[in-house]
Amino acid sequence: MSLPYIVGNWKMNGLRASLAEARAIDRAAARYPKVELALAPPATLISRMRDVVQTIDLGGQDCHVEESGAFTGDISAAILKDAGAEFVIVGHSERRSTYRESDETVCAKAQAALDAGLSVIVCVGETEAQRDAGDAEAVVTAQVAGSVPQGDDVAPRLTLAYEPVWAIGTGRVPSLDDVEAMHRAIRETLLKVCGDAGSNVRILYGGSVKPENAAELLGADEVGGALVGGASLTAESVIGIVEAISPAGSE
Ligand code: PGA
Repeated sequence: MSLPYIVGNWKMNGLRASLAEARAIDRAAARYPKVELALAPPATLISRMRDVVQTIDLGGQDCHVEESGAFTGDISAAILKDAGAEFVIVGHSERRSTYRESDETVCAKAQAALDAGLSVIVCVGETEAQRDAGDAEAVVTAQVAGSVPQGDDVAPRLTLAYEPVWAIGTGRVPSLDDVEAMHRAIRETLLKVCGDAGSNVRILYGGSVKPENAAELLGADEVGGALVGGASLTAESVIGIVEAISPAGSE
């Protein structure tokens, strides 16, 4: 069994002054060896953060499908790796909606990340209208099938993140039954896409995870960790989440 994986997605937040939070999160990671911690800060901070943290993984929040070229304003997986990243998040709902990223694009980005030697966190999730229409599982499993690259070497470097769009930044979370049902459906799809190796891919839950609900959500069947937005911005709340799922000194 792999350790619970808690990944902080800082989104468009983080100045040099925020490196102090990253250092505090990193020191906490050393105190909680039964949890794996990672941060995805703005790309501009990766290199500086790499210099001041030892235990946590660092990642980007998006990458281009190409390795380099005339793509003003974009960043490639190779550039992220060179800055000190170990992974990249692709297909976050904020990118799927704002930049109209299709499953095909997300899949190409995930492949670019793997080609550059990074691990990849592929995000999926339904909108509220899709859930209300009873389509949540069909939508999410289609996203998984369309966004995860094919290939024998994919599963060991793949993490899935299930983030209901309506739960992101809203304080609302699905029922545990709904989380478990969705994670099971994602697992079945991963087994189809990745074969047996799909059984070891971690499936994170994301959307309004905080210290108060982390233990319950992380205790759910097939939930291998959390992708955390707002509550990952301070060491205090990250430590609150980690403490909730793995109290210090517990064996
Ligand atoms: P949230 O964001 O924790 O602020 O809801 C999660 C995410 O978008 O990854």
